[in-house]
Amino acid sequence: MLEVLEEIGRDRDSGGYVRDAWSPADLELREWFKGEAARRGLDLDVDRNGNLWAWWGDPAAGPGVVTGSHLDSVRQGGPFDGPLGVVSAFAAIDLMRERGLTPGRPLAVVCFTDEEGARFGVPCIGSRLLTGVLDPERARGLRDDEGDTMADVLRRAGRDPMALGRDDETLARVGVFVELHVEQGRGLVGKGAPVGVASSIWPHGRWRFDFQGTADHAGTTRLHDRDDPMLPFARAVLTARVAAERHGVLATFGKVRVWPGNANAIPGRVSAWLDARGAGERAVRALVSELTLGSGATVSEESWTPVVDFDVPLRDKVAGLLGDAPILPTGAGHDAGILASAGVPSAMLFVRNPTGVSHSPAEHADADDCRAGVTALSSVLEALCT
Ligand code: GLV
Ligand code: MN
Ligand code: MN
Repeated sequence: MLEVLEEIGRDRDSGGYVRDAWSPADLELREWFKGEAARRGLDLDVDRNGNLWAWWGDPAAGPGVVTGSHLDSVRQGGPFDGPLGVVSAFAAIDLMRERGLTPGRPLAVVCFTDEEGARFGVPCIGSRLLTGVLDPERARGLRDDEGDTMADVLRRAGRDPMALGRDDETLARVGVFVELHVEQGRGLVGKGAPVGVASSIWPHGRWRFDFQGTADHAGTTRLHDRDDPMLPFARAVLTARVAAERHGVLATFGKVRVWPGNANAIPGRVSAWLDARGAGERAVRALVSELTLGSGATVSEESWTPVVDFDVPLRDKVAGLLGDAPILPTGAGHDAGILASAGVPSAMLFVRNPTGVSHSPAEHADADDCRAGVTALSSVLEALCT
């Protein structure tokens, strides 16, 4: 399955993946998901927010056990972030069937829509809409880089944007959620275990900084006459680094838009997006306030995800089933965190990543470790289904 997916949305020059939500690549991935469900005789359901569910057994007989992840990608991402969880979910079902098992509860594979937020800026859109933490009106109005709203994009994909919103019926079917994911750090390296279990997700958020200036000619405007928004932006980047070290958190400006974008003109505006995360919410908030106050920019919070502490009895049960697998926190956001915050008992399995690199084409997991992930996931599902 991973070999089939390798070809979808791949930038042939860089080897990275570009799989924005509802792009042709994403639509192809969604068709792939439907095909895998059909091949296994699973019943497909597309919920009002566009999340895909493939059910083994009648969901009405639930609440069921759900596993899966997402198929969209950050721009120029790697092959495992998201797809590994979906592929492993289907493979775990295959393994359970090979063993002659029939689940005592309905079991589903889910593919959440737009986990990365690469297109509209807000991460975990499918699970946030499902659980009601993202206002559907706000979601419909979010714009992509082309200026198209999510409502426009959904309509073009044949979906009804007015259907977006909290979905109690779908949510009630999810008794427990287990997401398998490639590890996005080196926490498992050196621990002698290919699979670990998540304890928590750091609080994290994204903020948009708009620096206003005055566009003018690069060759004729004297330095002291300039109102160049690139300068406060550059200061903010350096300040963020120093403040992050002082507060013991992480701060990243990974996306910048410069208007109008001429090499021979002082820009009129710079917009930049700050991603800030850390073990402690207060420290993250302190960094963002400090940067906001000193930057001279207009700052808006585009998303905030509070700390997630995964259900401890479930976590311990899962780790125990896997022979006391290592338990570790992560700084990466996941749909499992959104579901956990909405009260759905949730757990995560991480598959060892030898370099720790992720959100990059260099992301990697060894085939043997991926297989160990499938075996681990199938044991966990088997235990949860009985
Ligand atoms: C999701 O991958 C994130 O940005 O944490
Ligand atoms: Mn990711
Ligand atoms: Mn992911």
